Amino acid sequence: MLYAYWLLTTDYLILKLSNRDISMRILLYAGKGGVGKTCVAGATGIITAQTGLKTLVMSLDPAHSLSDAFDLDRALMDKNRGQPIEAGEQLWVQELDVHEEINNYWSEVHSYISILLNTSGIDDVLAEELAVFPGMEELSALLYINKYVNEQTYDLIILDCAPTAESIRFISMPTALEWYMKKVFRLERKIFGVVRPVARRMVDIPLPEDEYFANIESLYARLKGIDQLLTDPDVTSVRLVTNPEKMVLRETQRAFMFFSLHQTSIDAIIVNRVFPIGFDDDYLRVWGNNQQKYLDLAETYFHPLPIFKAPLYDSEILGYEKLLEFGKNLYEGKDPTQIFFKQRPYELARIDGRSFVKLYLPFVTKKEIDLSKIGDELIIKIGNFKKNIVLPRAYAVMEPRSARLEEDHLLIEFGGSSEQSQERGEG
Ligand SMILES: Nc1ncnc2c1ncn2[C@@H]1O[C@H](COP(=O)(O)OP(=O)(O)OP(=O)(O)O)[C@@H](O)[C@H]1O
Ligand SMILES: [Mg+2]
Repeated sequence: MLYAYWLLTTDYLILKLSNRDISMRILLYAGKGGVGKTCVAGATGIITAQTGLKTLVMSLDPAHSLSDAFDLDRALMDKNRGQPIEAGEQLWVQELDVHEEINNYWSEVHSYISILLNTSGIDDVLAEELAVFPGMEELSALLYINKYVNEQTYDLIILDCAPTAESIRFISMPTALEWYMKKVFRLERKIFGVVRPVARRMVDIPLPEDEYFANIESLYARLKGIDQLLTDPDVTSVRLVTNPEKMVLRETQRAFMFFSLHQTSIDAIIVNRVFPIGFDDDYLRVWGNNQQKYLDLAETYFHPLPIFKAPLYDSEILGYEKLLEFGKNLYEGKDPTQIFFKQRPYELARIDGRSFVKLYLPFVTKKEIDLSKIGDELIIKIGNFKKNIVLPRAYAVMEPRSARLEEDHLLIEFGGSSEQSQERGEG
């Protein structure tokens, strides 16, 4: 049973969760491809390391660019493949290498899958490559995070995520794995134990041996507690990095919904590549005005989360000094390990078979609430206040029926299907 209590030390917290002491923070930077996640994660690491926190910046993206952003020595990286490399005082950078991880931890799982693929007619090299199935990188990262937390190796772990889809897979991995281990794994292992001798004579594909299951079981055991870590708002904060552009903001909204669904705490939005204002040039002024429109939109999308802005530089951000300057501009003196927002901005609930969306909306007074839905987007208007949220699939097929303010929350009930409502001329 989970029990937690606070002990305040220096600037950050010690949280006691079941039987382990957690005296650290995990900051996860996610967002669409190319928005600036690696720069933000790297810059954050430099700032926190300079305040004396032992900091690890870990890249979860198989297409690593963290070492490039830090301008680290390639030969040194190759020599310590997949391991943390010192990138400054109190600062380490780690780019996971899935092949190294497979050799160390996944050998039975990997060899069974490659044999299986190989017997399906796929040649050796391709089978080896394909047997690195989606999720292995994410699982390897989770294993490291759990290890570092248990061994109290760092004060702070900063995760530089792959583009949105992969980071959603990362965050959903503990839940998916727990479901698999509870509902499928034991049964599967038992069935294979019983049928293996008979089935071996009847089917011409290799069946997994018990070592395969033992390998999965031991990996799972090493992940114990990781789900609590990632969903504990006092430990893990997700920060969505975005740009002031329509398509990018749209994807950020989706990521916002997915991370909220997984009960992770998003405590800030970072809008990167904001044009400096006051250009004489017409062309740049148009760009600037367009961006302002999207910055305003970002406020309506993500209110009441704080929005940090980082300017567009005149060149790429490479190396320690440039990253440091970028980080200073971004946080403007604020401590990046701070929890910038703690309330869950958005929750989905099924109560007595009825479906609700519960939004945290402080400072909103009781006025007429206007709800509308376009596709999977819910638009809420209360007086001058306007908010758009992207709905998960299960809700997008329904219509908002009613809404009421309860203390600091707006409770919206959903029901029926969009089609039924359109037939009745509602919506
Ligand atoms: N504010 C900025 N001004 C100028 N260049 C920037 C800015 N932010 C990022 N860049 C540059 O844009 C490129 C992409 O940035 P970065 O690698 O941080 O993005 P990413 O979101 O991590 O990308 P990926 O999804 O590919 O991992 C880099 O060359 C970086 O130096
Ligand atoms: Mg990156």
